[in-house]
Amino acid sequence: MAFTIAIDGPAAAGKGTISKAVAQHFGFAHLDTGLLYRAVGRRMLDGVPALDAARALMAQDLDAEDLRAPAVAQAASKVAVMPEVRAELVDFQRAFARRSGGAVLDGRDIGTVICPEAEAKLFVTASAEVRAQRRFAELAGAGVITSYDRVLADVRERDARDMGRAEAPLRPARDAVLIDTSEMDIDAAVARAIDAVNLARRST
Ligand code: CDP
Repeated sequence: MAFTIAIDGPAAAGKGTISKAVAQHFGFAHLDTGLLYRAVGRRMLDGVPALDAARALMAQDLDAEDLRAPAVAQAASKVAVMPEVRAELVDFQRAFARRSGGAVLDGRDIGTVICPEAEAKLFVTASAEVRAQRRFAELAGAGVITSYDRVLADVRERDARDMGRAEAPLRPARDAVLIDTSEMDIDAAVARAIDAVNLARRST
């Protein structure tokens, strides 16, 4: 049986953690679609044209070590503006979404463009300041030297690019359940997401 859970939202809103926990709870497979754009962005930083990198993308590229680096995140959001790059990545994401046994995909356009027919759609958000604080702590924990102000500027710049682009801009699907995690801890956010999916499961 296929069942797709689409989880979208801006940088560092908690999508990744929520998606992993939801996938584990329901025994579904999980795809962090941001890794596709990060892997293409990573190759672009090496001088490979973005479209060539998207065409040649392989599963093992998603395991590259430095995909979480801030420079790669910025490069990802730059290649993500290109319609032909996005188009290259559609089939892989759709096939993953419809695999039997259920799938959770997190990203920016899963509920709106990749899987508008997803059985459950969530939009996870939080204030830019809270998101920057979380990302700063995450990067510091991973040994990346940066400052809160720098991370906040990065988050705002990426938000503007992701929301302002013509192709597949970041926005909630009309029927998405909104979860604002600004004042929620991770356990509460996960519980809220699981409740929303259970509700969708009962009505399909
Ligand atoms: O983890 P974080 O939320 O910071 O970023 P990510 O989900 O890994 O995504 C990195 C960048 O890829 C985003 O800023 C988007 O520009 C792009 N992206 C996208 O356009 N569409 C997706 N489905 C996923 C990511």
